[in-house]
Amino acid sequence: MTGVRGKTGVPLAELLGARPGVEVRGGSSDPSTVRLAGVHPTAFSWDEPSGWAAATEGVDAVYVVRPDRADAPELIGALLAGVPPRARVVLLSERDPDHTGPDGWAPRAERAVRDGGRIWTILRPSWFMQVFTDPRFYRDSIVDTGQFSFPGGGATVAWIDARDIAAVAERALLDVGHAGQVYELSGPESLSLPRTAELLSAAAGRPVTHREVTIVEAVAGMTGFERDLSALTFERVRAGRFADVTGTVERVTGRPARTLRAFLADVGPVVWTP
Ligand SMILES: NC(=O)c1ccc[n+]([C@@H]2O[C@H](COP(=O)([O-])OP(=O)(O)OC[C@H]3O[C@@H](n4cnc5c(N)ncnc54)[C@H](OP(=O)(O)O)[C@@H]3O)[C@@H](O)[C@H]2O)c1
Repeated sequence: MTGVRGKTGVPLAELLGARPGVEVRGGSSDPSTVRLAGVHPTAFSWDEPSGWAAATEGVDAVYVVRPDRADAPELIGALLAGVPPRARVVLLSERDPDHTGPDGWAPRAERAVRDGGRIWTILRPSWFMQVFTDPRFYRDSIVDTGQFSFPGGGATVAWIDARDIAAVAERALLDVGHAGQVYELSGPESLSLPRTAELLSAAAGRPVTHREVTIVEAVAGMTGFERDLSALTFERVRAGRFADVTGTVERVTGRPARTLRAFLADVGPVVWTP
């Protein structure tokens, strides 16, 4: 696995680590921080291709968390060229990657997997519910200001629990029948931003409001590729590209995708305790 510390990486590592007979290498550029039962912390950095061969030697399957950087298509292609030919590859991509046309960055990252000569499955999830609990996203502003600023433009978002993405990834990595599939993944309901804030308020036990901002405001402080990618992502939110409820989680895993209410109940108010 690449990205074992990330939002889908942790729950996927937990699922795989609990499977008897499955040996999991949890790739991170900071492997000393990886402490997950049944998972071998493994040095893996997109910046150090010299370490990839050791990380992927002999693997049967690879989970690729797309790195959000300009050279991701080339990096993914180079990584896959070195993994065993029989290995299954599951890529974490995103909804509506073709927004900027077939030669955009996101479709090129997917093409690196489709053309990589391995058995592949591509996951295209909506926005993750975990953005509300991740301090690198909205958790801290919810705690500090009781607000989250999001340029939704009146669109709804079918938030998905990263644990459901992980459950689909687990199937695609371990089971047959997922080769050449592109899975459009969403949560079970499409929520307006004000409704999302209501659910957050109830879960956090204090008022949380959605603040509508412009895309320029939302990407303030970001630079370069990160800024461009984030602005594009918010444009797609506004265009309703994250609104569809797809039902794919249930189709693949046999159980319904979790609601935002259920996710927030599992997390508990302690996450937003100052
Ligand atoms: N977030 C969303 O709502 C969303 C929605 C759709 C698609 N996606 C796509 O999914 C991919 C992964 O996004 P993500 O939001 O899941 O990424 P993430 O949680 O930030 O994880 C990505 C990597 O960031 C590194 N990282 C650095 N500091 C960290 C910290 N304090 N805690 C945890 N990880 C840390 C980790 O790699 P190291 O261990 O190597 O440092 C981790 O694997 C991206 O391509 C993104 O565009 C995201």
